[in-house]
Amino acid sequence: MTLQAEIISRQTKNELLRVEHLKTYYPLQKGLFSRPTGHIKAVDDVSLTLYKGETLGLVGESGCGKSTMGRSIIRLEQPNSGRILFEGEDITHMTVKKLNVVRTQLQMIFQDPFASLNPRIRICDALAEPLVVHKRVRRSEAAREVEALLQMVGLPRSTGERYPHELSGGQRQRIGIARAIALRPKLIICDEPLSALDVSIQAQMMNLLQDLQEELQFTYLFITHGMGAVKQMSTRIAVMYLGKIVELAPTQQLFRQPKHPYTQLLLRAVPSPDPTLRSANEYIHAGDMPSSGEPPQGCRFHTRCPYAQANCGVVEPALTEGEHAVSCHYPLA
Ligand SMILES: Nc1ncnc2c1ncn2[C@@H]1O[C@H](COP(=O)(O)OP(=O)(O)O)[C@@H](O)[C@H]1O
Ligand code: SF4
Ligand SMILES: [Mg+2]
Repeated sequence: MTLQAEIISRQTKNELLRVEHLKTYYPLQKGLFSRPTGHIKAVDDVSLTLYKGETLGLVGESGCGKSTMGRSIIRLEQPNSGRILFEGEDITHMTVKKLNVVRTQLQMIFQDPFASLNPRIRICDALAEPLVVHKRVRRSEAAREVEALLQMVGLPRSTGERYPHELSGGQRQRIGIARAIALRPKLIICDEPLSALDVSIQAQMMNLLQDLQEELQFTYLFITHGMGAVKQMSTRIAVMYLGKIVELAPTQQLFRQPKHPYTQLLLRAVPSPDPTLRSANEYIHAGDMPSSGEPPQGCRFHTRCPYAQANCGVVEPALTEGEHAVSCHYPLA
């Protein structure tokens, strides 16, 4: 085997998820009953790989397609085209029955865990349900496993007796995390898990997610618009703009030497002395983001880019290969 083939084979072995040329579009309708007049290209030809044990951060302004990306990976949205390979298996068109088995390995934590908790069901029953349905434990052992789960997410045993509305935002998010880890999945997609929480609680939640990862070897796709959160959590970071990945690099490298003008502006966005406190949503200096219904021709960022040249509005730059990938005709040195 050549050295290169060996490297590729080693990487493939560590690969958990591969997304190839994924496109997820929503119909664009003027009125409720009118015909679609076009598409919102929420995710538009995205390819990326997640390696076992890493945290890949996915960052960008609201509306750039982060949630659609996460939801498409676990098939809560059906992609229009492209492929999703989980442990080498193509799950893009898998039947619901088979998908239910794969979903034990692939879980999601949402911004608002309250939305997925039934207000009339006690926490202990909500946590026991997936354990029993997926036969992780026998019914008689479920109570003990629920207790263990509560302990793992730092909640007292008595929380099990309570109903969702009796819990604080932070406690509910801990329950969201407990539910996600109950079946010991391999991949957890965290979709803005901190956004609904007080700043004081956000740090605790990040620590909890990191401790659990260390203990149980999870791989995370960590979706956020917070530059500080993405820096603290991620091994590598993908920057998304209008349905596309514009830069992908190891965390330190991205912060030290951003190559895409958009990434650079995100890092500069807020005049805070601490770059970790900046949020992608506060980047509004160069005008609002164009609509993903009619994305600009050529480079999608050219309408806001301070470095745009004539060809930028005509020719779309491709994402380069390699450890530090960027899609720009004039990447920053
Ligand atoms: N269910 C939906 N139907 C129609 N459009 C949607 C739907 N969900 C999201 N969108 C649109 O797709 C784009 C990407 O949204 P989303 O994935 O939620 O972005 P983000 O999570 O980065 O804020 C936005 O323009 C949004 O309005
Ligand atoms: S391709 Fe041109 S418009 Fe796009 S980010 Fe690079 S310099 Fe700016
Ligand atoms: Mg979102």
